[in-house]
Amino acid sequence: MQTNTMPAAASVLVTGGAGYIGSHTCVELLQAGYRVTVLDNYCNSSPEALARVERITGKTVQRVQADIRDGAALRDALRSSQAQAVIHFAGLKAVGESVAEPLHYYDNNVLGTVRLLQAMQDCGVEQIVFSSSATVYGDPVRLPYTEDHPFAPTNPYGQTKLDVENMLRAQSRAKPHWRIALLRYFNPVGAHPSGLIGEDPQGVPNNLMPFVAQVAVGRRQSLNVWGSDYDTPDGTGVRDYIHVVDLAQGHLRALDMLQRGTGGQCTAINLGTGQGCSVLDVVQAFEQASGRKVPYQIQPRRPGDLPAYWADPSTAQRLLGWQAQRSLHDMCADTWRWQSMNPQGYASPVTA
Ligand code: NAD
Ligand code: WQD
Repeated sequence: MQTNTMPAAASVLVTGGAGYIGSHTCVELLQAGYRVTVLDNYCNSSPEALARVERITGKTVQRVQADIRDGAALRDALRSSQAQAVIHFAGLKAVGESVAEPLHYYDNNVLGTVRLLQAMQDCGVEQIVFSSSATVYGDPVRLPYTEDHPFAPTNPYGQTKLDVENMLRAQSRAKPHWRIALLRYFNPVGAHPSGLIGEDPQGVPNNLMPFVAQVAVGRRQSLNVWGSDYDTPDGTGVRDYIHVVDLAQGHLRALDMLQRGTGGQCTAINLGTGQGCSVLDVVQAFEQASGRKVPYQIQPRRPGDLPAYWADPSTAQRLLGWQAQRSLHDMCADTWRWQSMNPQGYASPVTA
């Protein structure tokens, strides 16, 4: 009989792991030696993303096609994977859709997380990293946003993120053994430098970077710049864009923090660069990185948009020893590589 003296690698359940941020985080987890099980219903993603994660890493991802509202499937996945921790990306994220269909958002994002936490409790899994958002802060009363900035989400999507954060804070007070990281992302953009995985929005992109990329590749004629009369240096909206690989690496650091038991019981952490960039900064950087023109037209402001916000990332630096490494040029160059290698997203044949 063979005996295996190697310690078993730590196992993580990743909900929503086939999605944009989840797939990039799976790459980092596998490269760091974790065993990864992805639970996803593919409502906004493709299993092809996981095939490509395997191609990048040369490692296997265990897949469970299921909904996070299915408690039995969650318990099965937690037990069979022997997960020690969960990274919870699964959820819906389209702001406009959340205004039109709020119940769908509360059902997926809030009820889905209730089911997940119940399953974790049943299975004795007590560490979770949650995908929160800078959207919980709402209208800035001061900038940069620090984690103690008041909460004032301005749409149902943002409210579901705050509701889940509140639920996790309550769980942490009731169950002091739990270790919880609430990661508040700023504006994730970019793609893996291999060009094999990236953001693949369905239909017309709502977000700036994928729209710019589709204009540059010729899928759309021109960009609408929503407003040029804000009180910002060039009049267009300012955001803290963060490379998705930096963001993914932040999750590994957060997992590490939970496992080491440093950083408190339930801790909110901004993941941003600390730098604001305008819409026109992004257009210019993309043109430079791609060598393509990005025609645009100035339009009226988009209802509900904030003029400007960016992160104070010092908590991440202090607690995680993490700071974003990649520039706006890197974000554009990597988006362009992904977009030009996969003009139709995951429906494109693999060319490299
Ligand atoms: P995404 O849509 O690409 O990924 C979400 C994944 O979750 C998809 O694979 C989807 O199929 C899956 N999913 C959704 N509902 C599910 C359910 N009920 N059961 C099982 N799987 C389900 O989105 P993303 O950009 O990768 O975002 C990941 C997380 O980060 C989300 O929770 C999102 O709200 C949060 N977030 C995203 C941004 C952003 O701008 N991308 C910013 C802040 C926070
Ligand atoms: C960025 C800037 C637009 C598109 C959203 C969610 C937020 C978070 C991230 C999850 C703004 C301008 C955009 C276009 C444009 N998601 N713009 N033309 O609105 O900062 O954040 O995604 O938590 O909750 O609200 O991102 O990329 O849509 O916009 O001029 O076609 O680009 O006005 O100034 P946003 P975005």
